[in-house]
Amino acid sequence: QRSVITVIGSLNADLITRTPRIPSPGETLVSSSFSVACGGKGANQAVACVRLSRRKDSLSKNGGHGDGDASESILVRMEGAVGGDAFGQNLIEALGGDGVDVSGVQVRKDGNTGVAVILVEDSGENRILLSPGANATLRPEAFDSLAAPIPDLLILQLEIPLDTVLAILRGAAACSPPVPVLFNPAPAAALPPWAYGFVEHLIVNETEAAILYGVSEDYVFSNPSEVGREFQRRGVRNVVITLGKNGSWYLSGGPDGEEGQLAAEKADVVDTTGAGDTFIGAYAVSAVRQKREGRAFDIRSAVQRATRAAARAVEKEGAMGSIPWENEV
Ligand code: RIB
Ligand code: NA
Repeated sequence: QRSVITVIGSLNADLITRTPRIPSPGETLVSSSFSVACGGKGANQAVACVRLSRRKDSLSKNGGHGDGDASESILVRMEGAVGGDAFGQNLIEALGGDGVDVSGVQVRKDGNTGVAVILVEDSGENRILLSPGANATLRPEAFDSLAAPIPDLLILQLEIPLDTVLAILRGAAACSPPVPVLFNPAPAAALPPWAYGFVEHLIVNETEAAILYGVSEDYVFSNPSEVGREFQRRGVRNVVITLGKNGSWYLSGGPDGEEGQLAAEKADVVDTTGAGDTFIGAYAVSAVRQKREGRAFDIRSAVQRATRAAARAVEKEGAMGSIPWENEV
């Protein structure tokens, strides 16, 4: 029996411009490069789950399906929506080519695919302006069945409507046995208090943690333990706060309640876009593999692996294109 990870979330076309600095109001600057690439937090995280559970050469060995040894590998399913345009077609082909099951990606013939306009400064820092397009059409009704196969882990973000995400959280909890959810509330929005109780793994960066807790990013950097423990009080089991170059703080929901912080890996930063999604894919693969081996969840090793994978992603341009394969980490 194969383990299954389902990702329900966004698929975007990323329009990436590199610039020495962000233009001031009214100013026009010449960019240093431009490219169009596949992205969207949902799609990136699905691809990250596939790549971080397979060797790169498994793609060619298995006729382009990237299935590896079917008994060993994890089936990754993507559910979401794209428009009836070339961007949408490209996304479906790219994900399918990597070995993601795209049968749950709906095509809105008269709609546009989501577009993320991304400005990357030479420092590697990014700014993103998102036009949701078809992602915004994902209604709660579309997911009344967490259709077979019931996943071992469900991954959600917030680039689709919040009420849809909340309905899916409820649906996952109502399955028997309940489907564990890894929630990456990005971009961050206020959540109803009950939602936290439906989350097995909460993974946020400093910006998202600050918004959810109502403090500044600096406060999160200096007090990750206070912030993370509050999320656990609200009902989350395992909490991870990623802190950029300060590494990651984690808190286990297991009986030992292990808390710790891991330093970031050394990396030559080119473009941080996609690092968070890579982190989540690697962490998810660890969680599912540990479960399959019947082990109690070891959050530290999951965070360690995710940290290493994310360091590779910041060394490459773009989001999806920068996600490493398992043998590259
Ligand atoms: O997390 C990175 C992603 O966020 C990009 O691929 C872009 O689509 C934005 O949604
Ligand atoms: Na990157």
